[in-house]
Amino acid sequence: MNGDAAPRVDQSDARLGDRLGARLGDRDFRRLAELIEGYCGIRTPPIKRVLVEGRLRKRLRVLGFANYKEYCDYLFHQDGLTEEITSLIDVITTNKTEFFREPKHYEVLMGMVLAELMQAGIGTRRPLRLWSAGCSTGAEAYTLAMLLSDAHMLKPDFDFHILGTDICTDVLRIAQRAVYAEEMIGPVPMSMRKRYLLRSRDSEQQEVRIIPAVRAKVSFRHLNFMEQTYNIGERQDVVFCRNVIIYFDRPVRQAVLERICQHITVGGYLFVGHSEHLGDLTLPIRQAAPTVYIRV
Ligand SMILES: C[S@@+](CC[C@H](N)C(=O)[O-])C[C@H]1O[C@@H](n2cnc3c(N)ncnc32)[C@H](O)[C@@H]1O
Repeated sequence: MNGDAAPRVDQSDARLGDRLGARLGDRDFRRLAELIEGYCGIRTPPIKRVLVEGRLRKRLRVLGFANYKEYCDYLFHQDGLTEEITSLIDVITTNKTEFFREPKHYEVLMGMVLAELMQAGIGTRRPLRLWSAGCSTGAEAYTLAMLLSDAHMLKPDFDFHILGTDICTDVLRIAQRAVYAEEMIGPVPMSMRKRYLLRSRDSEQQEVRIIPAVRAKVSFRHLNFMEQTYNIGERQDVVFCRNVIIYFDRPVRQAVLERICQHITVGGYLFVGHSEHLGDLTLPIRQAAPTVYIRV
């Protein structure tokens, strides 16, 4: 977690916290932080304690625990971990995302990167393969799908497939459903909205859905970057892994990106977030543009 997203603490959560009059004890915070980092790589240093408390309140309320101690006793005893880890990770992950986030990357992709890959017959001799690694609710994957659908419109023999993966089961459900609040589609160009988004028939709903033809180009699945092997099939030509590794410390960043690189074709591309620098890591890549790397 970082300043990337506002803590998910609403007024009722805050009131519940007041009523409980409880804080997360030192020992419980430490063992939770250890559990979370070991399971998914996300660091929760002491400065994030209030944020962690805020996010856990939701679980306390759902499970009916009176305070954090009761929750931690449940989590760390008997079957607690097995039963609770998925929900714990769902509330702990920061899932902020946007359509056309960091738009310069999409210019690089649709310009230099696509031209180079297509020169090698990728996209025509076989479908171009892209991976939104840490896809959250799917905005990144569907942004790619809309742009590449435009490319297909111009060149009908061009084909592609996009894989989206995430550890958080809540966001994967949203991604699969592909329904978004209208306020989220602000960055989508008007022409694309007309081509690729369906407005809800119920005008009260203020929601849009990605059209079936674009949804069909994207698949989503659960993947934890801490796993030793990523079972995602063939190597990818383009990987977007943006605003994910900022939550990890250096050894985890090194290990995760090494594994991701093994899943990129030689000559394929890796995009990381604009605030993510890979200079301190040893990886089989060289820089092709700011925060864009080519697999060597
Ligand atoms: C801030 S979002 C970024 C979403 C998107 N890539 C973007 O830039 O808009 C980070 C995502 O990484 C996921 N994530 C964090 N740790 C992970 C892990 N160990 N394995 C897989 N996904 C993880 C989170 O669940 C979250 O949805």
